Amino acid sequence: MALPDDFLWGGATAANQMEGAYLAGGKGLSIADVEMGSRHGVPREIHDAVHAGSYYPSHEGIDFYHRYREDIALMAEMGFTCFRLSINWPRIFPNGDEAEPNEEGLAFYDHVFDELLAHGIQPVVTLSHYETPLHLVQEYGSWRNRALIDHFARFAETVFRRYRDKVTYWMTFNEINETMNQAEPYHQAGIRLQPGERAEEVKVRASHHMLLASARAVQIGHEVNPAFKIGCMVQYPTTYARTCDPRDVLAQRFHMMPDYYYTDVICRGRYTNLCRAQLKRLGVAGIPFEKGDCELLAAGTVDFIALSYYFSSVASSTGDDRIGVKRDNPYLERSAWDWPIDPMGLRIGLNELYDRYQMPLFVVENGLGAIDTPNRDGIIEDDYRISYLSSHIEALKAAVELDFVDVIGYTSWGPIDIVSVGTGEMRKRYGFIYVDKDDEGHGTLARTRKKSFSWYRRVIATNGADISPL
Ligand code: BG6
Repeated sequence: MALPDDFLWGGATAANQMEGAYLAGGKGLSIADVEMGSRHGVPREIHDAVHAGSYYPSHEGIDFYHRYREDIALMAEMGFTCFRLSINWPRIFPNGDEAEPNEEGLAFYDHVFDELLAHGIQPVVTLSHYETPLHLVQEYGSWRNRALIDHFARFAETVFRRYRDKVTYWMTFNEINETMNQAEPYHQAGIRLQPGERAEEVKVRASHHMLLASARAVQIGHEVNPAFKIGCMVQYPTTYARTCDPRDVLAQRFHMMPDYYYTDVICRGRYTNLCRAQLKRLGVAGIPFEKGDCELLAAGTVDFIALSYYFSSVASSTGDDRIGVKRDNPYLERSAWDWPIDPMGLRIGLNELYDRYQMPLFVVENGLGAIDTPNRDGIIEDDYRISYLSSHIEALKAAVELDFVDVIGYTSWGPIDIVSVGTGEMRKRYGFIYVDKDDEGHGTLARTRKKSFSWYRRVIATNGADISPL
């Protein structure tokens, strides 16, 4: 076994973190457009509307909206065969509930996809990556409300039909499993808990609607073009038991249950016994089922599992093992943002997911957020990034070549520096391409190649055979 010749290599992004032009071409506001910038350890402030004088990083992003040609040319120079991006939902349906789409928004993605295809780069598209239209949140209560399924399905059908011959690989919701894992799933589900609401009830309800919406999208997509490959996307949290105490091992299994809750439904087409056990653990009486839901879930299973992997965590039987990731693994180094660095955890995770579902896997996010400082000649020598990425690609190769796991591609996160979701910072950089912009929004937005740029070009040119440092 070796990486297949058609293995997909590239990078991954999200519209709200890079496009900018937040009102251009008739776009409406998304949940990202009212989220302020912050810094490590300080939660981002979320507003109900855009306040004059407040800084919202999504408004300009890195201005991909106007600079996509230059950015795609740089990706082509690295030899990308695919590029993952999301379609900004309120560019297509500004409020989310219109009957007709916004033509200017649709045309923008035509231009982007044409540019990618002209360079031999396949677009890999996420339908929903933290860009729920703000209107759907404020008027409908976001995914608490079953009405969002229809609005999402109309959005999905519109873009499936429009880009039928330009896009093959699609994903429904980015990191759908974080809906249950986050204390308040604002990014994933547009939800901020209201006084008197029971968090677990709300998350289970919202999740049910998102799972149904995902299934509807998959069903519609396969009707529009049977050749479409439509996947789910989860954050895969490889988790270790703190010790060999059986209680810690059991805690590790419990820790994974909220994650398998989603992949079980999406890949197997039904709520499994694990899902029921998870509901019991959460103390939630039931799922708000309606007639036809079971059939829809069964008909809308995905073609592949896409995953993000950044770090692993640790579970123990003491303390809160259900919410909150424990990152204090004494065997691992941590990044400046306190994320453990664990390449072997990727190999373990790929094995676990493949064993469980026997579906093709696509690593669509992986990378090191770091502070980059130019040297005296203005060059960023990001050997730390090369080291992180090469060790993870090596682990991926081991999963394919030694463990025979079916992995179809790898897209590193933020191949060009973009806004961080967690903090809204720019200084948490993942890219091979540096963007001149700081955390207050100042900078020329000029793009510069880092040392890792040439390294990744060689990785791709050799189909992963040469991952050694430069
Ligand atoms: C993933 C998200 O969870 O992590 C991305 O899908 C995000 O949108 C990435 O950017 C890295 O997180 P952060 O906080 O460093 O941007």
